[in-house]
Amino acid sequence: MKKIKKVGVLGCGLMGSGIAEVAARSGYETVVREVTDELLEKGLARIHGSLAKAVEKGKLEAAARDETAGRLSGTVDLAALADCDLVVEAIVENLEEKRKTFSALDETVKEDALFASNTSSLTITQMAMFTRRPDKFVGLHFFNPVPVMKLVEVVRTILTSDETFDRAFEFARSLGKEPIACRDNSGFVVNRLLVPYLLDAVRALEEGVGSVEDIDKGMQLGCGYPMGPFTLLDFVGLDTTYYIANIMFEEYREKRFAPPPLLKQMVLAGRTGKKSGRGFYEYGKK
Ligand code: 3HC
Repeated sequence: MKKIKKVGVLGCGLMGSGIAEVAARSGYETVVREVTDELLEKGLARIHGSLAKAVEKGKLEAAARDETAGRLSGTVDLAALADCDLVVEAIVENLEEKRKTFSALDETVKEDALFASNTSSLTITQMAMFTRRPDKFVGLHFFNPVPVMKLVEVVRTILTSDETFDRAFEFARSLGKEPIACRDNSGFVVNRLLVPYLLDAVRALEEGVGSVEDIDKGMQLGCGYPMGPFTLLDFVGLDTTYYIANIMFEEYREKRFAPPPLLKQMVLAGRTGKKSGRGFYEYGKK
């Protein structure tokens, strides 16, 4: 199997910065691309902050941090990704933006490079068809926080070649992650089960089954989940969950994927969770 040496990451937001960090930490020459200098600076600062924290906690040697930083670079120029062996896309969940990005990437990056998307709900097949290399296209779906969560869903479409899938699977493993194989169905494995559960928690709240705190405590202490559903909703983002749920509802037309009114109202009211300072809980001023 051809070795992946250089990795490109598109987008240096919460997920992109996490993916770039784990790739660089795992020994890959990594270049992360953002659309503006400001966003790039912010993203790179997040990565360096996370590396510093890992050193502080004794999880990473100072020398390994410096080597990681040496393998990592940032750019606003797609051309800097031309000689990458794998490009992982983690930009906004907007199909038109993905179309523009992948068509430009297809023109820029060497022909035998693999493309992957970290999308949580859009179909990989549709994105693969924006390129002339659908056989070299997979989903690599990471979980938040990327440096901590062990799972990567490796998603194959009916067009993905066996070689591409195997290389992507091995790549995920080389990051110290546990990959699982998934078919290209909206939500893959985890969100297909997780999203209806989160929506159901909101419905339970709407129906007065219990309070936010008690429902959270119930699932945390009764099932051993690290976070109750409302803490997790705040953590993932209510807007993100609402967006994913709508895509999944559109795909399956099943009630369990339909976002409940309270979720929509909270998104409209700007209570999107931890990132905005307020969701089901309050997180201080933002
Ligand atoms: N970066 C690096 N390390 C981090 C981190 C981050 N952003 N956040 C937490 N950690 C580390 C901490 O340093 C700590 O390490 P240590 O135990 O070695 O000191 C460890 O993770 C545990 O953190 P804390 O003690 O601060 O807090 P918790 O024990 O509450 O753990 C958590 C935090 C790992 C986030 C845990 O609560 C958890 O697993 N929550 C569930 C997260 C989850 O379900 N994520 C999936 C969301 S769905 C998704 O991403 C899919 C998308 O498509 C929607």
